[in-house]
Amino acid sequence: MSNERWQAWRDDTPAMVEYAYMNSGFSGPKRRATHEAVQQRLDLELMHGSTTRRALDDRFDLAGRYREAMGRLVGGASPDEIAITGNTTEGINIITNGLEVTSGDSIVTTNVEHGSGIVPAYYLRERTGCEVVIVPIHAQDSAGQAMESFVSTMGAAEGNTKLVILSEISYSTGQLLPLKAIVDETHRRGGYVLVDGAQTAGHIPIDVRESGVDFYAIPSHKWLCGPDGLGALYVREELIPLVAPAKVAGRSAASYDFEGNFEPERERITKYELTTTSTPLIAGTLEAAEWFLDSGPEAVFERARELNRYAEGRFGRIERVSVVSPHHESTRTGLFCFTVDDLPAGDVNAFLQAEARVVCRSVAEFNSVRLSLHAFNTEADVDLAAETVERAIVEGIPDDVEPAYPPAIFGARGA
Ligand SMILES: Cc1ncc(COP(=O)(O)O)c(C=O)c1O
Repeated sequence: MSNERWQAWRDDTPAMVEYAYMNSGFSGPKRRATHEAVQQRLDLELMHGSTTRRALDDRFDLAGRYREAMGRLVGGASPDEIAITGNTTEGINIITNGLEVTSGDSIVTTNVEHGSGIVPAYYLRERTGCEVVIVPIHAQDSAGQAMESFVSTMGAAEGNTKLVILSEISYSTGQLLPLKAIVDETHRRGGYVLVDGAQTAGHIPIDVRESGVDFYAIPSHKWLCGPDGLGALYVREELIPLVAPAKVAGRSAASYDFEGNFEPERERITKYELTTTSTPLIAGTLEAAEWFLDSGPEAVFERARELNRYAEGRFGRIERVSVVSPHHESTRTGLFCFTVDDLPAGDVNAFLQAEARVVCRSVAEFNSVRLSLHAFNTEADVDLAAETVERAIVEGIPDDVEPAYPPAIFGARGA
């Protein structure tokens, strides 16, 4: 894909005028076209009311196209395998609350998960008495070494491997994990794999058919640069009957009456969807997903990795800076992470935004700063971040620098 595509993406993203925005892993900057798609649907609701035939036809059309686009985005899934969710975490919870887990089972996860992956695993242990097994992953592990850790940790677990919960890209290390090999190993042991795809949708080509993964949860608002508050969950068709809906309403019933007769819905993915969802958000996410698919997932990923290599070279030359995201090509992504000796990452992040309008985030686990390098970012964005870090090192960070976030935004683990 030519640079013109990335320039067009950037030109259509107003936040890029004022900011060097490198925080798509938190929430991506929106394109005007996405904003307009949301606006158009809001306008239709304003002018025609949400329940007129015209508005309802539009709503059903958008929802159908949304399932179809999300199916393509995860790699050839049928629209009947796509549930509309509010975010990644809701998708993860549908599986962890709906799959039957007993005290003899093991839930396998990693030490580089987001709270949205590890906390549901711990809740499963609280509720069922199952074992939670944590695979140690290091940012500089090759794909093969990460795989070896999975095999040996799963092998040492006491329970039967029931479910592996993992991020295909870790939010804290930026590392791509070898999904297909993990799926093959898990299936060999009779378990299922649930992917937290918060950092992958809109960033890399996803292929649920090729990997054979069982469940895959994604959001709209991160690398897809869609609106906040929407997502999708892929459930492999034959597994839908196995996962009961934890929250239920009319669509979770195949039939019922008011005399006590009731038949649960087992086969349809819509059993996980409650009542009203936001059609404007569907319209915006659909636009964003189609833009990403037209841009070419492979090309987006390659450009993000190219920027990561550039950042590694540029930041690698700064004294007191250590690059902590993967150096291995097999695990490299658009997430670039570094630490600065003797400087708290939260302060460096605050300085970047306050001094240079560089928008990124810090990661508490590694005291690191994380740049999300998307295809529309440029080498100049990376240079600006690097120069600002150099200044922070030479001049120091003022005590009164404005924090990048309001307090407690990241909950128990902090930023
Ligand atoms: C790996 C990972 N999982 C889950 C989440 C939460 O995503 P969502 O807001 O879509 O539930 C995040 C957000 O930062 C994330 O990075």
